[in-house]
This record gives sequence, C-alpha cells and structure tokens, in this order.
Amino acid sequence: MYTDHRQHFLAQLQGIGACALIPTNPTRTRSADTEFRFRPSSDFWYLTGFAEPDSWLLLLPAPKGSDEPHRSILFLREKDKTMEIWNGLRLGVTDAPSKLGVDEAYDVEDLWSRLPEHLEGHKRLVFATGLCNDNDAALLKTLSGLRDRVRSGVQAPMEILDPGPLLHELRLFKTPGEIEVMRKAAAITDEAHREVMATTRPGTNECELDALLEYTFRRKGGTGAAYGNIVAGGANACILHYVENNATLQDGDICLVDAGCEFDFYASDVTRSFPISGQFTEAQKSVYTVVLNAQLAAIDQCQPGNTFLSVHEVALGVLVRGLIELGLCKGTPDEVLEDESYREWYMHRTGHWMGLDVHDCGSYHTGDKSRSLEPGMVLTVEPGIYIAADAQNAPSALRGIGIRIEDDILITADGHENLSAAIPKTIEDVEAACALVTQG
Ligand code: GLY
Ligand code: MN
Ligand code: MN
Repeated sequence: MYTDHRQHFLAQLQGIGACALIPTNPTRTRSADTEFRFRPSSDFWYLTGFAEPDSWLLLLPAPKGSDEPHRSILFLREKDKTMEIWNGLRLGVTDAPSKLGVDEAYDVEDLWSRLPEHLEGHKRLVFATGLCNDNDAALLKTLSGLRDRVRSGVQAPMEILDPGPLLHELRLFKTPGEIEVMRKAAAITDEAHREVMATTRPGTNECELDALLEYTFRRKGGTGAAYGNIVAGGANACILHYVENNATLQDGDICLVDAGCEFDFYASDVTRSFPISGQFTEAQKSVYTVVLNAQLAAIDQCQPGNTFLSVHEVALGVLVRGLIELGLCKGTPDEVLEDESYREWYMHRTGHWMGLDVHDCGSYHTGDKSRSLEPGMVLTVEPGIYIAADAQNAPSALRGIGIRIEDDILITADGHENLSAAIPKTIEDVEAACALVTQG
C-alpha cells in the first residue's frame, strides 16, 4: 500500500518537474530527558509505512519522457548496538530497501551532505515549510549552497512547493487498503464505546472511562487514541474540547464520549452520548432525538455530487426546527437561520475529512465553492446541541444537557458506508448497551 502511494505521488511529481523531501515528525520532550511517545508524521507514514524517528524520504522522479525508473531514497538511523540496547531496535540501512521497498537507503547522519547532489537538476522541490525551524534552516542552507554553484552550471530548485495540492489531495481519496485499516479502527472503537456504556454507573469517574478507552484501543491492536479522549459527564459535555476527564459521573446526567481508536496511525472519530443511569429522562430524550434526526438526515446527504457544505446545511435545518420545538430558539426556521440564534446551542460545523489525521488534509473548496463529495473521501458527521447549566434562556429541564452524535462516513460510488454504524446509537440500542454487564 505504501509503495503504491509513493508511485502515485512520484507520477505527479514527474508531471510538474519536482522532487520531494518528506521528514517524519521530530521527537518532543515531555519532561527533562523523557519524550512523548513518538508518532510518525502522516505524510511520511503515508509514503513509507515506517515509524522510526529521525527519518526522511527523498523522492526523485525520472525526467519526463525518459524511461529511467523513479527513485525513492530513505535516510534513517543506522544500526547502533549501544543505542539499540538503551532505546530499542532499529531497522538500519542494509535492510531498509528489502523491508520497505525503497530503492536506496542511507544513514540519516549523511542527509545534508548527500542532499545537494540529489536536488541538483530539479526545478522544484516539494517540502512543507514552517513545521520545524531546524529543518527549514538546514534546507535553506542546502539550497543556497547549490545556488552559489550556478556559475558552474548547477541547476538548483527555484521553487519550494507546499505538499497540499499534490500529496494532500492524494491522501483525501482513500484506497481500498486504507479503507480496510479504517474499518479496523472503527471496529475497535465500537468495542471501546460498548465497554464504556456497559461499565458506567453513577459514581464512576470520567478518568476510569478514559483509561478503559485507551486500554481497549491498545489491547485490540490499535496504536492508541486518534486524539485526546473526551469523557464529559453532565454539563462538561458543553465544553467542546473538554480534556480534564476527572469528574465523578452523576446519576441522572448524560455522559458524552468522543473517542476514536487509531489503527496503523489511521483515525476513527466517534461520539456517543448515553445516560449514566442507563435510561434517558424524557427531557434528555427530546434533545437526543433532535440531534439523532439531524445526524441521520446529514448522513443521508453524504452522496457523491452533494457538496461538503450541504451536509452541514441539512443537519442545521433539522437542528433549527428542533431547537424551536424545544423552546431554545424563537421565530421561524428561516428567521433562526438568518439571525444565527442557533449558534448559542450549536456553535461548530457538522464534520471534517478524516484519515491519517483525525482532522485530515485535503481542500474543502473548489475555487470559492464548497467541494463536491466523491467516492473514497471519508468525513465525519457530528451535529450536537449544548445547553450550558447556567443558560438562563433555556427551559430549566434542559439545562446542563450536552449531546453530540458522530460517525465516520465513507463516500462510495452509489452513496456512502457508515464505518462506525455498529456502535449503538438509537435510544433503544444505547439503553440496551448501558444495561449490559461489562465482561471486564
Ligand atoms: N474529536 C474531535 C472532533 O470530533 O473533531
Ligand atoms: Mn470527535
Ligand atoms: Mn470529529
């Protein structure tokens, strides 16, 4: 799969006379001399399937019209007995070509000394600037060194291109291999959400569910959580990016869980909102039903040819009518849409692309118009209603209710596939999942 990704990207690079230099992520300090768990950069992983730090990929397409092969060159850490005893095994230069399908591999220590000879002769270079000052500085120094040799006939890249229009457009359209991986991520997310619903009781702490999610993601083979889990009881659900996850869950409240497994560094992103007691109150049901109907209508809208924006508009139409019926907005649906008073209760958009990054790359517009959905795209659909505990203009029975429902939708040739469809979502299915006794 990763070799195919490289070949597609190389063909595009050849078309525009560019080579590409793609670093993985830098390691990040967590405290003193300990680091955060390493995750490769999504672009680098997409093109290599290689997860060691200190690695760079250099892609050199053959000149247009030539029958030379393209070249993929990996720079990686050389094997080192002492370092491997302390910090873990390394693939090493010798085994990299056969293991990863690259044409050549070199010690990353030699990257900057070897780079000029490879960049020479290419008019353009694809490189993401602005992510790491050290990398930017080293690259600019290399380019300026090459340009200094222009009198001896050296052609140095004249333009640095952002990976967005080429690589990120490729990443937007998921291949069958990627979709399989995303199905695995969604299947583990299903297990994790079910475990959480079955485990939760009044008095459970949000942190226990946070840990149970992580435990299930890792135990089932995932690389971890695709983003920071949100486990938000009661009014905490009205904080959209709630991260504390440390409050005691109260009888009679709803718990909102926004958590997705990452599998082979591909994300899932799912939200469920369920009753802590196991049964929704009538007031909670009334809000839940509006959000669910908005989500189902928006998912129906996920068809090739419909625009990305139209998915939001369909959700918003259902939400606004529901907000009026619930007594949260006043006026006709058109008036509420016009004056945007719905924003007090629904202040975010209905979704985003998803893939290697939970908020994945790829443009949302064609010119100044919202982009049409096409087969292979994956997006989330995640409407919600958030009624703060101190919302004076909300009926008192509804205060402190926050509900979001989120699924991951693959656009197919004739419609869509909901990758997270198995996760309980109707009121009946959610209550049944909450009533189950956890298997532990
Ligand atoms: N969990 C982040 C999001 O739903 O976009
Ligand atoms: Mn989410
Ligand atoms: Mn999302």
